[in-house]
Amino acid sequence: MNLFKRFICLIAIVVVSISTFAWADCVQKRNTPQAPDNIFKQSNPLQATQDNISAGEKLYASGAKPLACVQCHGEKGNGDGKMAMGMNPKPRDFSCQAMMKDIPDGQLFWVVKNGSKGTGMMAFSALQDEQVWQIVAYIRTLAN
Ligand code: HEC
Repeated sequence: MNLFKRFICLIAIVVVSISTFAWADCVQKRNTPQAPDNIFKQSNPLQATQDNISAGEKLYASGAKPLACVQCHGEKGNGDGKMAMGMNPKPRDFSCQAMMKDIPDGQLFWVVKNGSKGTGMMAFSALQDEQVWQIVAYIRTLAN
């Protein structure tokens, strides 16, 4: 190998490792209770149609009571909403694909319905199942 090839090789290794770190950097520490098995493994029964996604977006941005998701999870879903400041644990970062890929639909659904005890994540028991699945469809569009 001549010097030039070695140099290119070295650059490639550096670039790959930096991007790997940046990729994994968004993964949050997560102690959220896990949904019961049958719900955990469920995938979204709704298709990710434009209608379902925009219905989910509306609930996320303003419709959900008592508090819209955006207040904590933020406009881009990265967990930096107005009310997130100083929150521990922080709201889930839905934009983090490296983490979200390991959280199944059923788990997202169950936490929205039941909340995560001892954290800022409240239970949204007034939302109908269909609405929650619409929100899940929307949340999935936030990871990239
Ligand atoms: C008052 C702030 C607040 C609001 C409002 C809020 N969340 Fe959360 N959310 C949190 C926090 C904090 C966590 C992290 C909980 C944890 O670490 O267990 C969280 C976690 C989650 C999770 C993670 C589940 C998992 O297993 O990792 C989902 C899904 C979620 N929220 C969805 C929503 C949706 C949908 C809404 C609106 C209907 C909403 N949240 C509204 C604060 C909030």
